[in-house]
Amino acid sequence: MIVPIVALSGHNLQHKMKYIAALLFILFLASPALADGTLTIVMGAQTRALTAAELLKNPQARDVTIPNDPSYGKNMTYRAIALSDLLAGMKLPQDAVIEAVATDGFVAQLPLDLVLHTKPGASQAFVAIEPPDAQWPHLAGKKASAGPFYIVWANPAASGIRSEQWPYMVAQLRAADSPAKRWQELAVDKDLPADSPIRAGQALTVTQCMSCHKLNGAGSADVGPDLNRPMSPTEYFTPDALKKYIRDPASLRKWNAMQMQGFSKEALSDREIDLIIAYLQHKALQERKP
Ligand code: HEC
Repeated sequence: MIVPIVALSGHNLQHKMKYIAALLFILFLASPALADGTLTIVMGAQTRALTAAELLKNPQARDVTIPNDPSYGKNMTYRAIALSDLLAGMKLPQDAVIEAVATDGFVAQLPLDLVLHTKPGASQAFVAIEPPDAQWPHLAGKKASAGPFYIVWANPAASGIRSEQWPYMVAQLRAADSPAKRWQELAVDKDLPADSPIRAGQALTVTQCMSCHKLNGAGSADVGPDLNRPMSPTEYFTPDALKKYIRDPASLRKWNAMQMQGFSKEALSDREIDLIIAYLQHKALQERKP
């Protein structure tokens, strides 16, 4: 701010006023985004925008404790609203998923039946709300917390909730067609048997990888590179190196800006990584077929 102050020592009043206006405008642009985040909900033709303060005042907000929270690695308690309560009364399209869109380009696909909590005993999704006056701690290795909104699960093991289904820094929830319906680009050969490992690998790739990656141009996220175009990693990594990379990218190569953190054995077993690689190999072969 040295430049405007020097300029203010000039003697032309009109000139000074212009400078003050410009200075105020710069300050306005440079001020951090309002601390109070906004959650936008888009369900078909309906859109609602709710601030953290509004959500915290909602009588359905309650304390939810998450034992061993996967994003913080310890027990955490949040003010939160069940997604089924939040979306009650909104018209949801058939055969849909709820996409949770984060400010950093990450997009999680959440199955509608779980989000609406239609089965007793199933996992239940909550939107945790960061109180503007009591912000959460920073995430490990990041200069920000999981706020303003973070999707957490009560009883995650009951429905096999995966590590990538805990999106943080969420700004939008929107209904979308299921990935299989929306993206033909992800399809496997139709003569593969229903119990083919490649099909199992497809489902895992959609939930665990496509929250950040596209494949054949398909997908909602935009954090990592496309996993089949122009080349598949199965064509330029040995299978062992690729497996090692998925488990722990830094064990292969390391640099400051690395964003892919890798998958622990709880997040993906050895067998599950093999299934994902089988699917990626299948997609590579399909792509190269004349
Ligand atoms: C949180 C986001 C995120 C998730 C989830 C994720 N990745 Fe990545 N991935 C990235 C980013 C970003 C890169 C680019 C390198 C970096 O910044 O780490 C990358 C790089 C890669 C690469 C290396 C590409 C190259 O040529 O260097 C491979 C292979 C890969 N990811 C595979 C996967 C697979 C398979 C999964 C699912 C099991 C997955 N990723 C899940 C974000 C992610």
